[in-house]
Amino acid sequence: MARPKVSVIGAGQVGQMVAEHIAIKELADVYLFDVVDGAAKGKSLDIMEGLPHWHSDSFLEGYTIGPNGENYENLKNSDVIVITAGMARKPGMSRDDLLFKNVDIVKSAAENVKKYSPNSIIIVVTNPMDIMTYTAFRIINPNPKRIFGMGGTLDSGRFMTFVAKELGVSVEDVQAFVVGGHGDDMVPFVRYCSVGGIPITELLPKEKIDQIVARTRNGGGEIVQYLKTGSAYFAPGISTTIMVESVLKDKKRVITVPAYLSGEIGKHYGVEGFFVGVPVKIGKEGVEEIYKLNFTPEERKLWDISASHVKENVEKVNKYLNL
Ligand code: APR
Repeated sequence: MARPKVSVIGAGQVGQMVAEHIAIKELADVYLFDVVDGAAKGKSLDIMEGLPHWHSDSFLEGYTIGPNGENYENLKNSDVIVITAGMARKPGMSRDDLLFKNVDIVKSAAENVKKYSPNSIIIVVTNPMDIMTYTAFRIINPNPKRIFGMGGTLDSGRFMTFVAKELGVSVEDVQAFVVGGHGDDMVPFVRYCSVGGIPITELLPKEKIDQIVARTRNGGGEIVQYLKTGSAYFAPGISTTIMVESVLKDKKRVITVPAYLSGEIGKHYGVEGFFVGVPVKIGKEGVEEIYKLNFTPEERKLWDISASHVKENVEKVNKYLNL
């Protein structure tokens, strides 16, 4: 049986990590696309030449995207397309500063996805992620189940890491997730965070939990401050890969992703027609189920702030793109 095909648009730091993890796990053949001449080709060869030692037969290929979209035709028949193309955050730059620069980049990628492989499952990584997922959605116009963003899973991983390290327990026993926009006002969902089934509210004092929540919210910024010339890519690479894996193996992982909220579920969350991070089930059809969280008044307030920030940016994009 042929291996599935995953295409990664943007062969930068995150794109290369995604390609490497998918290949090491032999989940798929991977095709990298980038505008920088030779970058995708060189990286795909470099990854593939290490695979004999990991016992992986994944095939990789890289393409330079020409000024008129040349080589994008190689997207065709992709099972999954990951969009990481864009500019990374620089120190002092908020995710939102990137907005219009990355709208242009994601728009051009999305137009080619629509042209060559509109039925793929699409995972958007470019920041600001909720908005870039919306941008790609509006251009491609796919079944909304088949497109989602990466953010919540990355933020949840950060939350789990900090809880595990604080308590000195295995990360395997920590259950934690983050909802809302993938921005500074994301909502680490403390009430459902547990360690071996025990609520963290019984294991840690409020001040400690507050510190963990603040560090989670600033997780991306903390790394940018250290790196100075780029943003996080190891954890984003892993977070994206588990989503690809859940689609390709139809694993039905329950994780948080920016998902399209509309209709009845949208009404529940107070969101109509755009993407915000919520717990979902990911399988071969993409977002196969969106779960309802019953917020306390306090949680609802935090959610509303985060969702309204996403909405503001959605409106800016609508105006920018004349939608
Ligand atoms: N089409 C395809 N690729 C593009 C385009 C384009 N129009 N414009 C830029 N790229 C490529 C760049 O050449 C670069 O290789 O996208 C890649 C982005 O990689 P990096 O700059 O290394 O950024 P990275 O750290 O991978 O982050 C990518 O993911 O996490 C988010 O905030 C992050 O938005 C950023 C994105």
